[in-house]
Amino acid sequence: MVGITETVLRDGHQSLIATRMRTRDMLPAAERLDAIGYRSLEVWGGATFDVCLRYLHEDPWERLRQLKKAMPRTPLQMLLRGQNLVGYRHYPDDVVRPFVAESARQGIDVFRVFDALNDPRNMAVALDAVKRAGARAQATICYTSSPVHTLEAFVALGRTLAEMGADELCVKDMGGFLPPHEGAELVRALVRNVGLPVVVHTHSSSGMSAMTCLAVVDAGAAAIDTALSPFAGGASQPPTEAMVGALRGSAADPKLDLAALAELSEHFRTVLDRYRPLLDLRSLQTDPGILTHQIPGGMLSNLLSQLREQEALGRLTEVVQEVPRVRADLGFPPLVTPTSQIVGVQAVINVLVGSRYREITREVRDYVRGLYGAAPGPIDPALLRRVTQESPAIVGRPADLLAPEFEKMLAEVRGFVPGADEAEALSYALFPAVFRSYRESVDRGLTPDVLTTVALGVVGALRAPRPTRPLASTVPRGGAWAEAGRASLGSRRRWIDAHHARAGR
Ligand code: CO
Repeated sequence: MVGITETVLRDGHQSLIATRMRTRDMLPAAERLDAIGYRSLEVWGGATFDVCLRYLHEDPWERLRQLKKAMPRTPLQMLLRGQNLVGYRHYPDDVVRPFVAESARQGIDVFRVFDALNDPRNMAVALDAVKRAGARAQATICYTSSPVHTLEAFVALGRTLAEMGADELCVKDMGGFLPPHEGAELVRALVRNVGLPVVVHTHSSSGMSAMTCLAVVDAGAAAIDTALSPFAGGASQPPTEAMVGALRGSAADPKLDLAALAELSEHFRTVLDRYRPLLDLRSLQTDPGILTHQIPGGMLSNLLSQLREQEALGRLTEVVQEVPRVRADLGFPPLVTPTSQIVGVQAVINVLVGSRYREITREVRDYVRGLYGAAPGPIDPALLRRVTQESPAIVGRPADLLAPEFEKMLAEVRGFVPGADEAEALSYALFPAVFRSYRESVDRGLTPDVLTTVALGVVGALRAPRPTRPLASTVPRGGAWAEAGRASLGSRRRWIDAHHARAGR
């Protein structure tokens, strides 16, 4: 019997309506979700924390407490970006440990921990904190395809994660790249050589995910991720009902009640109607580009907007060809936040400047120096030499360079919220400016209801003339470093234009 992790309350709405589902649209379904018999319910983490504070003016901790109270039986699961927690930069260990402990205390039972570069050092402290909290540690292998991402390399990573205390492994196919036969081979190899249960997380973007799910279940996966049909397909996971139906009567039959699932889907269909202005048709469509150029949808729309800013949309083909070359130079990082932006911005600059690496972004320099973690493969020697001549590569774990922060943050937050508890202090430690303005709007009496009405109206109006992908417009594109990258790109525009004039382009 294969387990089903339901993602409608996290990845499903993160992928299709930019993470905007409110707690009050979740709670009426909670009791029925809890009665289905899911292996776990993914309800928290990823972008939900940031979006709750930034756009919904909800306290993410309050959401977690309410969901836990309403769903006491099914294990609740969250997505944790290793040392980045639910933010977009490395946090020091004295923030990582209490964040994990508090999340477990408030109701998270299963922590899916990943790192964009698959660097175990970026997952170590979080995994240790999960174990100390007595929760289940699901350590993650981000799937990508490259000469250095061999079956042997994935198995070696799986072994390392097992030695670090992982209770189970997750194969995370964030881009929808994983073909069925390769998924099956990977699951078989991990089960045979590591011996931990393997969970598979896919996205339907390229159209392969339901086939991949069937293949990995056949190969012995312990569980797959699915979303109830109104929030399934396209950029999200395959539909829960379809997967349960497809497996019915097989040896892996998850034995979930299809009639009960249909009733739940009715609820979420009504919920989706309320967020219709946020739903971009393209996020529901199959994106065949993924099968050829392997650029995830969210990254492609970022490239398009960068080129549009530079009035250089005509250079898209060259940029699409440059992306895999930059990725190779950087040792084949998986293309997921933040590496997708690091590679994307540099590829755009290489093309627009007309000379590769004449200009190197701050983020590429930091990456080459090891500040994001270890590159999966060797970095191009010439690029490595150039960057490390100016400032040397770091030795050891990136987070070891960070000074403790928590006490300082606690004192700061108590300056304007005198009774702030540990959870509120953590919200502030992760997103200081966002938390400050969240508190201000709460103090001004701006309720989520008022804000939703206004926000949906504004979004609807903005989207009418030129719709943009929800992912690109709402999930911060890598946060501060991406902002800096875009700003520095903008400031170079005159220089680039001048260069083009000289080159006669
Ligand atoms: Co996902």
